[in-house]
Amino acid sequence: MEIVQLSGAIGAEICGIDLSVKPNDATVSAIEQAWYDHIVLLFRNQNLDLDAHTAFASCFGEIARHERPKAIRNEAAELGPSVMLVSNIRKNGKPIGSLPDGEMMFHSDTPYREHPDKATTLYAMEIPSHGGNTKFANCYQAAETLPDDVKSKLASRRAIQVFEYGAVMKEGKFDRENGRWWAQPVFRKHPVTGRTALYVSELMTEEIEGLPEDESRELLEFLFEHQAQEKFQYEHVWRPGDLVMWDNRCSIHARTDFPETERRKLRRLTIKDEHPVIMGEPPVVSEVAAE
Ligand code: SIN
Repeated sequence: MEIVQLSGAIGAEICGIDLSVKPNDATVSAIEQAWYDHIVLLFRNQNLDLDAHTAFASCFGEIARHERPKAIRNEAAELGPSVMLVSNIRKNGKPIGSLPDGEMMFHSDTPYREHPDKATTLYAMEIPSHGGNTKFANCYQAAETLPDDVKSKLASRRAIQVFEYGAVMKEGKFDRENGRWWAQPVFRKHPVTGRTALYVSELMTEEIEGLPEDESRELLEFLFEHQAQEKFQYEHVWRPGDLVMWDNRCSIHARTDFPETERRKLRRLTIKDEHPVIMGEPPVVSEVAAE
C-alpha cells in the first residue's frame, strides 16, 4: 500500500489495494491512520458491488441509515435503507437517486443530527465527460487561520445546522418551528486527532446562536468565504471505479456544475460516529507550526 498526497492541504491516494477483497486488520489500521492524517482518501480502479462496498465501509464502523422522506420511492430505496444513489439519471421522469443536478454548495454530511455520521464513502459508477468534480476543504486549517478576534467571538458558540432534503443550494427561509436542525459547536474537536475544526458550511449553517441576526449573518458570510479558499482545497475529478472516503468532522465538500445531458451515478454509504460531538477550543497555532 502506497500513500500519495493529492494536494498540499487535504487528500491522499491509496495505491496498490483491491477493496473488493476485505482488508486484514493491519491494512484497516494503516488506512485509518492515513485517513486521520489526510482527511480524504482516494482509491482508484475499484470494482465494487454493493456487498463489497458495504464490507469495506463496515471495517471503519457501523453503516448509518440514509434518511429518505417516505414519499421518495426511487431505485436507491430498493437497494436498502443505508444506500444513497447520487445521480441525475431519471426513469419515467423521476430521478433514481438524490442530489441529481448541477453545482452544490460546500457542506458536511448530516451535521443537523445530534450524532452526525463521521465518514462518507462515495463510489463512482457513471461520470460525465467533464464537470461534477467534488471539491474538499480542510476545516482544521480553516479554524487555525482565522483572525484572533474572530476566534474569540466564536469561542464556545454553537451554530444552527439545517436539513433540507435534496437541497444543493441554500433556498428559502429557515423554519425553526417545523424544520429539522441541531445546534452544533462552531469549533469541533476531533475525537481521535484532538485537533479543532471549523464546523460550519454555506449549505447547512443558518445562524450562530446568541448573536444579533445581522452580526451572525455577517460573521457566517466571512467564515464561508474564509473556509472555501483554494489553499485549503483538493478538487477531485472523478473516474468510474473511484472510491473516495472522507471525514465529515474536519472537512467540507462541494460539487462543480456538469452537463445535464450526461449521466452521473455514484453510490454513497455513510458511517456512524462512535463518539459524541465535542466542543473545541479555538485553535492556537504557534508561528513555527504555521509556517
Ligand atoms: C454529496 O455531497 O454527498 C455528493 C457530492 C457529489 O455529488 O459529488
